[in-house]
Amino acid sequence: MKVVIKEDAAGVARYGADLFRDQLQRKPDSVLGLATGSTPFSLYRLLIESNQRGEISFARATSFNLDEYMDLPPEHPQSYWHFMQKHLFAHIDIDPARTHVPPGNAVDPISACNDYERAIQAAGGIDIQLLGIGRNGHIGFNEPTSCLTSRTRVKTLTRETIDDNARFFAAGEPQPHLSITMGIGTIMEARLVVLLATGESKASAIKAMVEGPVSAWCPASALQMHPATVVIVDRAAAGALS
Ligand code: F6R
Repeated sequence: MKVVIKEDAAGVARYGADLFRDQLQRKPDSVLGLATGSTPFSLYRLLIESNQRGEISFARATSFNLDEYMDLPPEHPQSYWHFMQKHLFAHIDIDPARTHVPPGNAVDPISACNDYERAIQAAGGIDIQLLGIGRNGHIGFNEPTSCLTSRTRVKTLTRETIDDNARFFAAGEPQPHLSITMGIGTIMEARLVVLLATGESKASAIKAMVEGPVSAWCPASALQMHPATVVIVDRAAAGALS
């Protein structure tokens, strides 16, 4: 695990965007693993600008998102499908047919999870996986106590994650408690993992991930066993590291 400490959030986004840019320039038909949440906003902005300047193209790329809420229609403003259209896909030259977000409203979620795994395999596996991290050490929606070899599956969200994500929902609006998420085992098969974290609220999760024992209590700690993970943090998120 390589840990890169940048001065601020803008530096984190730039470093992460450079890794994605290099990947797409080296292999235009890359399979990209993508994340939502507030952390990747600026990185996506930089990739959109690069695409619009003609430095990179997504035309031959394929993407798989990490996770999706269950029981929200894709067009719901808080669905991760909607997030990806709004913050990335609508602004780049990616073929919509090659973008994949777990189907949170599938009639048969278990089959849908297995199909998602098969689709990743059929695409040749993920070349580069973008991750954020929850304050409780989750990656995707793999909450603490998740099996470290888990595959794409239905996962209950913890109270902490529901509360953290409440900021995206209107007051009083019902909030999903279930998700479909790639498993930790799925994430561990990505050839390169790029995890971004900014701000003091992530400092203890970053410490547990980087310096703690490998444990299901901090799902991100499994990445200590991954051969090519780059953790990019700002000074605040790095603040608890020894
Ligand atoms: C999002 C995801 C989550 C977030 C994490 C951090 O697709 O998988 O694990 O990366 O909850 O969220 P933010 O970036 O909003 O702090």
